[in-house]
Amino acid sequence: MKRVVILISGGGSNMIRLVESMTGDHPARPVLVASNDPAAAGLARAAAMGVPVAAVDHRPFGKDRAAFETALLGPILAAAPDIICLAGFMRVLTPGFVARFEGRMLNIHPSLLPKYQGLHTHQRALDAGDAEAGCTVHEVTAALDDGPILGQARVPVMAGDTADTLAARVLAMEHRLYPAVLRRYAAGDRTPVFLP
Ligand code: GAR
Repeated sequence: MKRVVILISGGGSNMIRLVESMTGDHPARPVLVASNDPAAAGLARAAAMGVPVAAVDHRPFGKDRAAFETALLGPILAAAPDIICLAGFMRVLTPGFVARFEGRMLNIHPSLLPKYQGLHTHQRALDAGDAEAGCTVHEVTAALDDGPILGQARVPVMAGDTADTLAARVLAMEHRLYPAVLRRYAAGDRTPVFLP
């Protein structure tokens, strides 16, 4: 059984879908949900589902990302993960942290990568006049929002969309895509998943 650690920064709706998916004949189980924000709503939601939680506030570390990551590594290593899923984890990781988990760390990003790495993906898709948007699950490498694509899901951009309405449509697909990719990945299959 593969041990999965999920890193979050906020509400954790993707985390919830991942945790809910890991039952029955699924080849993985959640062993820890950790956040850089002690107030992240997802922590209480994970605890309510019976998953151990940890919080390491990044703020006292200021710009010292490596020191923050050293603190975060404590609970992560104690959980002995086989796979780490970034699920709305909004801290950029150092190459050193990424190297430690390369080949076993996934991220979900709310755009059709390689388009719109970074922030404000939905507004940028609208500003560009794109006819479709979507989300991508990829392996994490040292370059931000890069790395081999493990799954992608597309949604139409509708007339009158705002960044919020488009984000909601994309998020609904994230909730389908990430569990589908994790199931396949945990079984050792890196063939990309394409939805719908
Ligand atoms: C999701 O839309 C995820 O794709 C995005 O944050 C949201 C988290 O929502 N991630 C990024 O932008 C990473 N750069 P959630 O906390 O409800 O899962």
